[in-house]
Amino acid sequence: PKRIFSGIQPTGAIHLGNYLGAISQWVKMQDQNEDVIISIADLHSITLPHDPKQLSRNIQEIAATLLACGIDSQKTILFQQSAVSAHTQLSWCLSCICTMPRLAHLPQYKEKSKDLKDIPLGLFVYPVLQAADILAYKATHVPVGEDQIQQIQLCQELARMFNKRFGETFPVPHAVSTGVEFARLRSLRDPMKKMSKSDPDAKSRICLTDKPDDIVRNIKKAVTDFTSELTYDPEARPGVSNLINIHSFVTNESVEEICRQAENLNTGQYKLVVADAVIEYLKPIQDKISKYLSDSDLLMGILEEGRQKANEIASKNWIEVQNKLGLKFEI
Ligand code: TYM
Repeated sequence: PKRIFSGIQPTGAIHLGNYLGAISQWVKMQDQNEDVIISIADLHSITLPHDPKQLSRNIQEIAATLLACGIDSQKTILFQQSAVSAHTQLSWCLSCICTMPRLAHLPQYKEKSKDLKDIPLGLFVYPVLQAADILAYKATHVPVGEDQIQQIQLCQELARMFNKRFGETFPVPHAVSTGVEFARLRSLRDPMKKMSKSDPDAKSRICLTDKPDDIVRNIKKAVTDFTSELTYDPEARPGVSNLINIHSFVTNESVEEICRQAENLNTGQYKLVVADAVIEYLKPIQDKISKYLSDSDLLMGILEEGRQKANEIASKNWIEVQNKLGLKFEI
């Protein structure tokens, strides 16, 4: 059976990259009545030094934002990773079959550790925990942005290795991506980089909770190029094309249509059109976010219900793993 699992770190506000690359896929799959499980990956958010108060606020904010984006807790299991113990239990078992060189090669690890004097062990084993997240539910499909592909490949390898050593247990999960144009939304400050929560420059991204003034300012300042007319060419003109992609997503119009409509505009004028479209698109989402945030009992209830459903699935699979590994008495 098909089962969809994905996760998001509560490290900061959700941005358009997360939304276009991942969350919008989750909502679509949910609405097609797929079996969808979404985890707020809080244990992944403590791999680098963090402020506990901030983390706790972020968890609530992420839950509110996911619900506002259309995640329906009646259809989708939405829960906090740390509330289900199978994640860390399975993570340990997988870390015993994963090798250190395999982890050291992963680009995200190289990137995040390069400026650190002392590297936390958690940062190193992070992808093993991510594999455990997916395998704990025997997920078959993992909808993610392009930056997660290598981590999913590791998960596939670990599933195969486990199956080979201990007998068929886990399906080998597939990564699922939205169209190329959304799977890697770019930074507004440097179109060679992806839009990222951890970029110190807040002007590099549009968060779903940004105020209209900030959206206008950030899009106005978006780095483009020296050609003033509007053409779509992701290779040669990544900055402008990134804005066209965003515009196309929020208006549901094709890239060609957008370029035709903006025929007489220069890039500066076009940026204001994009900003307006984004503001209008986000308005109802922002209203819902505030509504959910004003009711923390409701949020807590939803996450608790999600925890129970997630735990039921994951703890059953964990017992199977215990049996396969010989951690239980043979009877
Ligand atoms: P995170 O929190 O960094 O990002 C959440 C999702 O957003 C996607 N994404 C993007 N997509 C397009 N363009 C961008 N610029 C962009 N930036 C982020 C990410 O690819 C991701 O799908 N390790 C994961 C969280 C996680 C997880 C899991 C994911 C924990 N356990 C198990 C899948 C399965 C992460 O840090 O995502």
